[in-house]
Amino acid sequence: MQASDRGGCGVKLRVKQISLSYGDTAIFQNLSLSLCEGEILGIKGDNGSGKSSLCLCLSGLIGEEDGVRLCGEILYDGKPLQKMSIAERCTAVGIVFQNPDSQLFSPTVTEELAFGPENLCIPRQEIAARIEEALRLCGIEHLKNAKTHLLSGGEKQLVAIASVLTMHPKILIADEITARVDIEKKERIRNILKSFASNGGAVVLVSHNSRDLAVATKTLELERGKDYADRT
Ligand SMILES: Nc1ncnc2c1ncn2[C@@H]1O[C@H](COP(=O)(O)OP(=O)(O)OP(=O)(O)O)[C@@H](O)[C@H]1O
Ligand SMILES: [Mg+2]
Repeated sequence: MQASDRGGCGVKLRVKQISLSYGDTAIFQNLSLSLCEGEILGIKGDNGSGKSSLCLCLSGLIGEEDGVRLCGEILYDGKPLQKMSIAERCTAVGIVFQNPDSQLFSPTVTEELAFGPENLCIPRQEIAARIEEALRLCGIEHLKNAKTHLLSGGEKQLVAIASVLTMHPKILIADEITARVDIEKKERIRNILKSFASNGGAVVLVSHNSRDLAVATKTLELERGKDYADRT
């Protein structure tokens, strides 16, 4: 389905008619959606349909490279993503990638979790409190002093989630983050996302997993190259 606009629900994200192409290849055209506080948008689609590309667009991480063309509007709380400072962007939206190795680069878990808020010049005491909170929410207090490179894949994924939570973003984008973890951690991650949404946030959740998509309050299926103009 095409995610539809709903007025009066605390719209956090509004996407208006965005089109993305790599060179001559259109990935999606005229895609519109909105996301309100408390909502979880589940995104599914075949490999190569553009799910990760959409996540990157929504995070402001795409659109400036050679051959990449992104048009349309992406607004967080009414403000265009393109006009936001890096700090504003980081507090509007946080993204967790499928492969945590592309996200983690600090030697220890604590340093990893402190990195983002330190760059936002958050006071030291507040950073410490955010780290404790994120470790607790992700059930990884025992990893606080662990060396990042020694963690298992599932542990790295939870640390990657925690590192985004310490930024206190309003919207969390999760790109296939349960794909590499065991059943217990999949359930834990679903609970983290549900709790994030029900505590004033909103979530974009990309997954092929039906149990993940069951936590979504609405879904969007992407088809490579599709023009969504007639559905807006
Ligand atoms: N920077 C880029 N330049 C050119 N082509 C790209 C670029 N990034 C992605 N693509 C291509 O765009 C298409 C969509 O890729 P994307 O990663 O968004 O798909 P996806 O739906 O996330 O797939 P998967 O389920 O495998 O993760 C793919 O064919 C990919 O090769
Ligand atoms: Mg992908």
